[in-house]
Amino acid sequence: MNQTVVILDFGGQYNQLIARRVRECGVYCEVLPYHTPVEKITEKNPIGIIFTGGPNSVYLENAPACSREVFELGVPVLGICYGLQIMAQMLGGHVVSPDSREYGKTQTTFDTTCPLFAELPAEGITWMSHTDYVDRMPEGFCATAHTAACPTAAMQHTKKKLYGLQFHPEVLHTENGTKILHNFLYRVCKATGDWSMGGYAQHTIDAIRSKVGSGKVLLALSGGVDSSVAAALLAKAVGPQLTCIFVDHGLMRKNEGDEVEAAFADKGMRFIRVDAETRFLQKLAGVSEPERKRKIIGEEFIRVFEEEAKKIGKVDYLAQGTIYPDVIESGAGDAAVIKSHHNVGGLPDHVDFKEIIEPLRLLFKDEVRQLGQELGLPDYLVWRQPFPGPGLAIRVIGEITKEKLDILRDADAIFREEIAKAKLDRDIHQYFAVLTSMRSVGVMGDSRTYDYTLALRGVTTTDFMTADWARIPYPVLEKVSNRIINEVRGINRIVYDITSKPPATIEWE
Ligand code: XMP
Repeated sequence: MNQTVVILDFGGQYNQLIARRVRECGVYCEVLPYHTPVEKITEKNPIGIIFTGGPNSVYLENAPACSREVFELGVPVLGICYGLQIMAQMLGGHVVSPDSREYGKTQTTFDTTCPLFAELPAEGITWMSHTDYVDRMPEGFCATAHTAACPTAAMQHTKKKLYGLQFHPEVLHTENGTKILHNFLYRVCKATGDWSMGGYAQHTIDAIRSKVGSGKVLLALSGGVDSSVAAALLAKAVGPQLTCIFVDHGLMRKNEGDEVEAAFADKGMRFIRVDAETRFLQKLAGVSEPERKRKIIGEEFIRVFEEEAKKIGKVDYLAQGTIYPDVIESGAGDAAVIKSHHNVGGLPDHVDFKEIIEPLRLLFKDEVRQLGQELGLPDYLVWRQPFPGPGLAIRVIGEITKEKLDILRDADAIFREEIAKAKLDRDIHQYFAVLTSMRSVGVMGDSRTYDYTLALRGVTTTDFMTADWARIPYPVLEKVSNRIINEVRGINRIVYDITSKPPATIEWE
């Protein structure tokens, strides 16, 4: 049994990022809703409790609050952002709501005698995202960090082992953020670092085995990193009971369908490829709204599975390679909806299976890759760049036709080929082409053209929650542009997307 940290989720966007940082520090953790009864928390025998941030103000009538006994357990508590404010308010302090907010990278001064900031510089940058702040601390607390606008950027009650941070240590923009969490875990909670990805793999395999028993499992295999790792995990857990179905929805990249088949057929699990292109394109005809497209594709996926499941007899579980960013961006818990990813939000209410299992639900992309390596998957699968479930349907802006898909497939293939030739494929974490719905006037030979504008997108990122646009060298862009214009009919203008996420998302729809 691993040492455990309990993270109480108050609905912030970065909550699982906290979980991931804790795991990075070699400590097992579980995320529970903020209203979890104290008995459930003590059942986990936690060595520490972390309160996440959240979108609310403690002034709200029903402001999310945890059970009061949490502070009496003698277990160290770390409140982050809203977590600090609610801790202060519940313990008799006072929170103010000034007119201006403090947002972004902020110069901060630390008291390095506080264990959280031990062995760190006394000045540094933190990531702030708040309006309210604590102007009067509860009895027994002292401030251990401040900024120009916030006198209580951190606070502590050493004796009761209660700590609070107004800034977000889990976000990479906070200098030494992981070190601050590491200090909380190792100096305050006395963690020993007994958690590893190998251990996690074994734990998950055991959990799948005991849940599934002798039941049959059907997995949606797309050939992407997520579903491939899910397949490897399930194959190890319940190999002979596993059937992998690859729905070729006709929205894949060039030659991808055949590549997926080559990679998974005859690999010790039952593999079925379903050609459903016509069916998907018919459903999508005339639809241009991105959320509608996602919903239609999500529903059609499930329908195809139901049909296949019927053909192969009784199936008990539907497995999916859903990973954490899919869950959070679809508005899990109290977080706001950004996009509904087709494998979560688009799920129809009625599904013909006993249960859905999502063994990667708590992991971030780079953790999924790590797990894939742990399971012995080949590099070319583990390092495949992410490809969205709805495929090229959300990279053809607006209405989808087979003709547009073919244009995009050819252009995208050239872009990927040139990036690989330039040996940039590991440095740029995701890169692809988008066929916009815009047409513009051009000239080719001696005649006027009126064709589509193609957008190229390349991003660097560690977690796909935030991303920067990739600085692709001009000669590479030039080559890509020339080749696409010359080799692909229907495109007469190419632009490069230079927006980061936020404010843009990685995909255009
Ligand atoms: P965004 O566009 O939200 O994308 O910044 C973040 C990451 O998720 C991928 N993505 C999806 N993956 N189903 C998926 O499985 C989807 O509906 C979906 N939409 C976006 C995207 O490619 C990027 O890696």
